Amino acid sequence: MEIKKVGVLGCGLMGSGIAQTAAAAGFEVVVREVTNELCERGFQGIEKSLAKFAEKGTITADQQREIRGRLTGTTEFNALADCDIIIEAIIENLDTKRDTYRQLDELCKPETIFASNTSSLSITEMMTATSAARQQRFIGLHFFNPVPIMKLVEVVKTILTDEAVYETAVDFGKRLGKVPVRASDKTGFIVNRLLVPYMLDSIRALEEGVGSIVDIDNAMKLGCGYPMGPLTLGDFVGLDTTYYIAEIMFNEFREKRFAPPPLLKRMVLAGLYGRKSGRGFYDYTVDPKNPTPMNLL
Ligand code: 3HC
Repeated sequence: MEIKKVGVLGCGLMGSGIAQTAAAAGFEVVVREVTNELCERGFQGIEKSLAKFAEKGTITADQQREIRGRLTGTTEFNALADCDIIIEAIIENLDTKRDTYRQLDELCKPETIFASNTSSLSITEMMTATSAARQQRFIGLHFFNPVPIMKLVEVVKTILTDEAVYETAVDFGKRLGKVPVRASDKTGFIVNRLLVPYMLDSIRALEEGVGSIVDIDNAMKLGCGYPMGPLTLGDFVGLDTTYYIAEIMFNEFREKRFAPPPLLKRMVLAGLYGRKSGRGFYDYTVDPKNPTPMNLL
């Protein structure tokens, strides 16, 4: 089966990045959001990102226009009916996702592949909201932020995923210009299984006074060649999101390494979500490009 038309559910940070990437790879893309305002906000992000690529000369002005022309926003589920693949990047709430999949299953053509961009929820639990035939066409496609830049996509299979569907999805990942890695439906897949304990440990190191925020970040950035230190990365991913993923992983595996540290919980309770709220381990409110470390202990 050849994928030509791509549907994206959700035009937030991840959904808009996925839509942009698919359109840049030459696919016709329909993005569905709950309201026109949310759709417009997502498209503004896409335009900003495309402008960055055009400024750098990665794409020409013509390509910028063509990519934009392949993207359509909608608030209607019906507009997704004839898509060959649907990539869902809506709120990380299992009930909402299951409800959405139930509706889409009735609406979409039988061949449509369903893919979730969830970072930590079970693909199998979403899949069971659909009919037996669709369950074989249900996978995970987990992208990384910022999607237009990060080269990886995790392609996740369940115990019911049809082999040919899975290979189509792996090939689709390559056509998007990403490097696909194969993973099975175990909570956190490959990246978050390794990344989340590392990020949580960096917070525990801070709590235990091993080093300051800046020193912990510089240690991993300069000592290991990572693009960002772990605390900066937490602010970038969102501390509320990190906490939420950690809770799911801890509940699944009951292992201490996935347990959210008390400091993380308190920061989330206090509304320190990282970059998106203006403050996290760093304060971005004065100069976002040169944030200052917070006094948290
Ligand atoms: N669109 C277009 N261009 C973008 C962009 C976007 N959305 N975001 C960044 N860029 C470009 C910048 O314009 C810049 O281009 P230039 O080098 O030609 O000037 C380049 O990318 C680098 O950006 P910056 O100079 O702003 O900053 P950095 O050099 O620090 O790079 C980064 C930014 C790419 C985000 C880099 O810091 C990085 O790779 N950080 C790690 C990100 C990461 O680990 N992501 C995964 C998070 S985990 C996840 O998503 C999974 C979830 O389940 C939790």
